[in-house]
Amino acid sequence: MNYTQNAIDLLLHQSNGLSISEFLKVLTDQYPGQVTFSSSFSYEDQAITHEILSNQLPVKIFTLDTGRMFPETYSVWSSTNATYQTHIKAYYPNEQKLQDFVEANGPNSFYESVENRKACCFIRKVEPLKRALAGNAIWVTGLRAEHSPDRKNLPILEWDEANQVIKYHPLLHWTTEDVKKYIQINRVPYNPLHDRGFVSIGCAPCTRAIQPGEDFRAGRWWWEDADKKECGLHVHEATPLATSAS
Ligand code: ADX
Ligand code: SF4
Repeated sequence: MNYTQNAIDLLLHQSNGLSISEFLKVLTDQYPGQVTFSSSFSYEDQAITHEILSNQLPVKIFTLDTGRMFPETYSVWSSTNATYQTHIKAYYPNEQKLQDFVEANGPNSFYESVENRKACCFIRKVEPLKRALAGNAIWVTGLRAEHSPDRKNLPILEWDEANQVIKYHPLLHWTTEDVKKYIQINRVPYNPLHDRGFVSIGCAPCTRAIQPGEDFRAGRWWWEDADKKECGLHVHEATPLATSAS
């Protein structure tokens, strides 16, 4: 752990005065083949994808295809592949676990209890994420401080105990306006749902648009209490698999 904190401190020092792409280059030089970026095709993630691909940085890019994403999200995935002549890698839920869970609980059981919702997120996102991160040293994310109170005080580089990687959040302190401007100036393909009041975009049955002035996370799992609204990707404890058929 001390070794890790030293490594993070050193990286923080090295990041001073560097642009995002310059610092990503430092990371890929120091951890060749071990820097990976998770994209949900949100505004933020599309900006990071552009930084990586337009600068030809050897950062791997993956998405967690839950099977329940919006049609618009699949479209922006396709247009991103076409624009950058790339093939973004997808990780999928364990087939047997998903089948058992859906057979036992039905396709929309996430509306019935927090336990079911967390189990669904665990099967469709958290476990595939573990596979995606295995063997990597650095996990780049599109987390922003503005998104939720939990994310407000995050450091730009942090140790993720659950996944045993260093997380790097390059856009942590960007405002929504910064992200929008970047997307516009660089003509980056983006999810049209952002133009219809969607701020933070996850799975279709669990995400809706928000009203002006509403909390950024208000459109995610809106039927649950605010303090439960994390899917387990960005918390320090992995959510146990609660419900499945046996
Ligand atoms: S979540 O924890 O609530 O689902 P959020 O939607 O705010 O996360 O996204 C924050 C970051 O998590 C994204 O910028 C991205 O790096 C990662 N992420 C979220 N969902 C996915 C996904 N389906 N596939 C890959 N990365 C994702
Ligand atoms: Fe399942 Fe909803 Fe979580 Fe997606 S966001 S994995 S559909 S509970």
